[in-house]
Amino acid sequence: MKRIFYSAVFACSLLLSQQPLQAASPDPAALKAQHDLVKGAAIYNSTCAVCHNNGIMGAPKPGDKVAWSARVAGGFAPVLANSIKGFKGMPARGGKQSLTDAQIADAVAFMVTKSL
Ligand code: HEC
Repeated sequence: MKRIFYSAVFACSLLLSQQPLQAASPDPAALKAQHDLVKGAAIYNSTCAVCHNNGIMGAPKPGDKVAWSARVAGGFAPVLANSIKGFKGMPARGGKQSLTDAQIADAVAFMVTKSL
């Protein structure tokens, strides 16, 4: 009886600890389906890599799972919004105002899918 009780508590705590993460962090397959990652990679290389490849001023590097998992814990949309309007050391649109919201989204999706 005790064993069943403890397994139930264990199962519940597992569920509780995993649910918020699963609900909020972006699904890489969905990001790949919704964004053009090839264009995103080109934009990243021409505009974003200068800071993000080298972690300038704490810019999260693509592939750094620890850094990115914390940033996208609240979902893709807030991180994208920060990239469009600017966020601390991150200049609005990576400093290139001619990039459209969709182009920024492709670049962010490229970075995030490399890092989950
Ligand atoms: C001048 C350097 C610089 C350039 C260029 C730059 N970034 Fe950043 N970026 C940063 C820094 C610094 C941060 C970290 C800000 C912080 O959390 O203190 C950041 C953070 C981010 C984040 C995380 C935002 C969040 O909510 O945590 C995303 C996404 C991002 N950049 C996308 C881009 C994209 C896309 C481009 C190119 C279009 C780009 N960045 C170009 C410096 C840069």
